[in-house]
Amino acid sequence: MKFFLDTANLKDIGWAAPAGLIDGVTTNPSLLARHAGDLEPQDVLKEICSLVEGPVSAEVVAVDTEGMLAEARRLARLADNIVVKIPMLETGMVAVRRLAAEGIRTNVTLCFSSVQCLVAAKAGATYVSPFIGRLDDVGHDGLDVIRETRAMFDNYDLGTQILAASLRHPRHVAEAALIGADAATMPPEVLRKLLQHPLTDRGLEQFLADWKTRSARRKATV
Ligand code: E4P
Repeated sequence: MKFFLDTANLKDIGWAAPAGLIDGVTTNPSLLARHAGDLEPQDVLKEICSLVEGPVSAEVVAVDTEGMLAEARRLARLADNIVVKIPMLETGMVAVRRLAAEGIRTNVTLCFSSVQCLVAAKAGATYVSPFIGRLDDVGHDGLDVIRETRAMFDNYDLGTQILAASLRHPRHVAEAALIGADAATMPPEVLRKLLQHPLTDRGLEQFLADWKTRSARRKATV
């Protein structure tokens, strides 16, 4: 399973990428608005693309097909590893089909049902992003969308990758992996939590304390 960092924060990417913890990055207009500061969004995207080798999702803000296509082509020119995020709209599906024909990779975002993912896959999307946490927030089981989408894509041998998005905690990541999502995108705090367990800390503390005691004992006997 590929891990993507869901952020436009260069500091967090600068932590996770060199540590080899991530395979790519996803951004969205909200994340860029939050983290770009005085920089131009395209400069932030270029910087992100230089920090990670894998795919970097950058989203269009146009909602009409021609506007999306123009923006997508501009974004794709920023770096070889850009994947253009297109919202799940009818106009978006027309754009995805045309971009696929041009060899531009796409990530269809804001998917909240398995049939939306199916439509996006049929249009030629490289990735579909079902939003798990936001579905949970409104009382649904977001993981059901991943489950159904996995079965549909397997039934028809569709190559579109399922990118589990809007993940709120490590259990979401675990469940998405068990179902067979191809990738998971998560905020830095969730990635950090994947590394942690209180029993790891307690166990290490004990190992080091025992080692110190042994060393002190040996020193005392020589
Ligand atoms: C996906 O690519 C989105 O950027 C993201 O996962 C949305 O997550 P949120 O619901 O935490 O905003």
